[in-house]
Amino acid sequence: MIICAAAALLAATEWISVAEPHEGLRSAGVVAKTFVNEAPVVEAKWTVSGLGVFTCYVNGREVGAEDVLKPGFTHKEKRRNSFTYDVTPFLRRAAGATNVLAAVLTSGWWSDGIIGRGRGRENAFRGELTLGGQTVVTDASWVGARRGPVIWAGIHEGEYYDAREEIDLGAAETFAAWKAVVPNTEFAGVLDPLEGAKVGRRAPLKPIASWSVAGKRVYDFGQNCAGVPRFTIRAKAGVVFNYRLGEMLNDGVEDHHGDGPKDTVYLANLRGAASHMAYVTKEGLQVYIPKHTFYGYRYLQFDELSAADFELVAVESVPVSSVTASLERGTLEVGEKDVNRLIRNVYWGMLSNYLSVPTDCPQRNERLGWTGDTQVFAKTAGYFADTRGFFRKWMRDLVDSQEADGYFPDVAPRGCFGGRGQAAWGDAGVIVPYRVWRQFGDEEIVRENWPAMVRYIEALDRTDYTMQRGGWVLADWLSYENISTNQRLCWQNGTLTDEHLSYQNYLNACYLVWDAELMTEMLPVVAADRRLKDAAWFTALGARTRARILTTWFKPDGSLIDLFAGMQTPRLMALKIGIGDTKRLARELVDIIRANGDRLATGFVGTGELPEVLGKIGAYDLVWTLILQHEFPGWLYSVDQGATTVWERWNSYTKAKGFGDVGMNSFNHYAYGSIVGWIFEEGAGIQPGAEPGYRRFVLAPHPDRRLGSLTATYRTDFGEIRSAWSYAGDRCTWTFTIPEGTAAEVHPPCGGAARVYGPGTYTL
Ligand code: BGC
Repeated sequence: MIICAAAALLAATEWISVAEPHEGLRSAGVVAKTFVNEAPVVEAKWTVSGLGVFTCYVNGREVGAEDVLKPGFTHKEKRRNSFTYDVTPFLRRAAGATNVLAAVLTSGWWSDGIIGRGRGRENAFRGELTLGGQTVVTDASWVGARRGPVIWAGIHEGEYYDAREEIDLGAAETFAAWKAVVPNTEFAGVLDPLEGAKVGRRAPLKPIASWSVAGKRVYDFGQNCAGVPRFTIRAKAGVVFNYRLGEMLNDGVEDHHGDGPKDTVYLANLRGAASHMAYVTKEGLQVYIPKHTFYGYRYLQFDELSAADFELVAVESVPVSSVTASLERGTLEVGEKDVNRLIRNVYWGMLSNYLSVPTDCPQRNERLGWTGDTQVFAKTAGYFADTRGFFRKWMRDLVDSQEADGYFPDVAPRGCFGGRGQAAWGDAGVIVPYRVWRQFGDEEIVRENWPAMVRYIEALDRTDYTMQRGGWVLADWLSYENISTNQRLCWQNGTLTDEHLSYQNYLNACYLVWDAELMTEMLPVVAADRRLKDAAWFTALGARTRARILTTWFKPDGSLIDLFAGMQTPRLMALKIGIGDTKRLARELVDIIRANGDRLATGFVGTGELPEVLGKIGAYDLVWTLILQHEFPGWLYSVDQGATTVWERWNSYTKAKGFGDVGMNSFNHYAYGSIVGWIFEEGAGIQPGAEPGYRRFVLAPHPDRRLGSLTATYRTDFGEIRSAWSYAGDRCTWTFTIPEGTAAEVHPPCGGAARVYGPGTYTL
């Protein structure tokens, strides 16, 4: 009986939208409902969701204000997430008391340009309030209007807020003359509770400097990030405060491709993201923080306003992220200040780009879950923070976005860009669950996604993971090698070159071999479900693919074909999967890097694999050399150019030449941040052991005198691991801590046999 009643209730709950059409610029709307308690309220829970970003209120007080940008980014047609809040303290609880529910609806990841074709038309809200026996659900009894201070807002668009239009969302009279809402049937997917990847606010950043230039007022928050500014303003009513947020300053040098006078904010790289903000003041002292968008920025700029009309009393930058302070796990500090800045930059790259989904960048008209970027960064992320919930949610987005034939896409959830996945991008569907499982021992992420992973591998097997001419290849995206996709060189006269196609297919084949290995390694987790392929199947697939690689891209003597002469990444990938004459390939790889002035030339794919492979061939000192390299291309190059996050290109901006190609130039792109995973894993030597998670782990650091010292901490489910080494002259001292209830296989850096140590702190 009770079950039937609940089912009837769910069926009656509707997505509701404002009935009035958009009025000029006004696309945001408010829906509301006044109700009377049938009995005294003991406990009340409100489950809410939106088509578009929403905020919701009980008696005028915002509910769930700590979770911003609800409900986050999911597949537009297939999934929405809901949030459940205990609203008992928000309610008037006496029998017969009147309460008011309201929600403000904006475009969010539903009808903003970020969704691209097929985006939703109208924003909507859905809520179910249960108060003991009484329920209040969204249905035709709600009212709505295009009213209130939020005029419009979107993810790429920004926010337009008119404080003069503020209304009392807790007063029944506000809504007295409003029209009934209309049901919204645009979304027919599933609604499930959000388990991970909520978005919250982090500690605010104060400006470190401000100045006036060329009629503009500029504030510097000292750190590039994804966030929103919070303003305290004293003003007359009706002042239009238009402001812009950007990542860099114009340097004012001619030919530096800036977009304004020296020390004004550079905005050109936002491309099609309007990222606009306008705030119209009310009278007096007021505080404003945008709640329906976010920006990627370090600097704030606005046209100077008359002091008689407008005073900016205070301003802060409030980072928004799915990496909350409580999820953070690892810290890393070395004895070299530029490398410390690099580590900070990578950390900020993660805060900025783990925002509901793992994004490529938080500023321009993308902010999308590019799967390759996600994959190469996933290891680093697992050291900085507990990514279990975040990736549990994102893997659902990825599986929701899987193609009908089984291929994973290069962007998930689907958005305004993206297509079929290819090497390192589509393979995120196997590598990301693998990383989470290894780092945290989370078997659920493997089990839940296993059928989709098998479908993916079957699709690769059917097609030999071969790309066809006419497509778009990413190859080793943004590399500086002979065959590069850096300056869109893969197209000559509008067609893909044979070289690029062959290179892409080589990378694909190498990834297929790796995928098959990872699937075999994960098999014990799904042992009970053997109907979904067994080890022999994956081994045979790996062997077949290896044979194909050898005949297509190798000479009979085990060396790579001439097409890959002088290239780093093809050798890295061969060494990664152990194919061909590996001794020779290892020698060649080191020689190529040395001949390049101890510099890498790799892109997103190669750079992710480079340190691990160099370690595998024993060239640890070369990894540190690359990390410490100040010349282009390399990590410290952008640090020297003033980076506070990782850039899309090592030379996105240079003091000597100014801004890089505006067509694709993000100053907050974490892909190259993959190096920090290596510093934790091999530099500090903190690694999961044969058993995933850290109950039994490995400590195998590779110190280097040039760094002076390194201290890493990593908070596992069992306690904190610490690994710290430092040099006094040539003498290196290493101190490590193994938490209670765990044991570590310790590999002394100075050589000697590995030994198992129990809990405690030791010095070698
Ligand atoms: C994104 C990248 C992405 C790439 C692949 C870019 O526009 O920002 O990070 O991986 O496209 O095409």
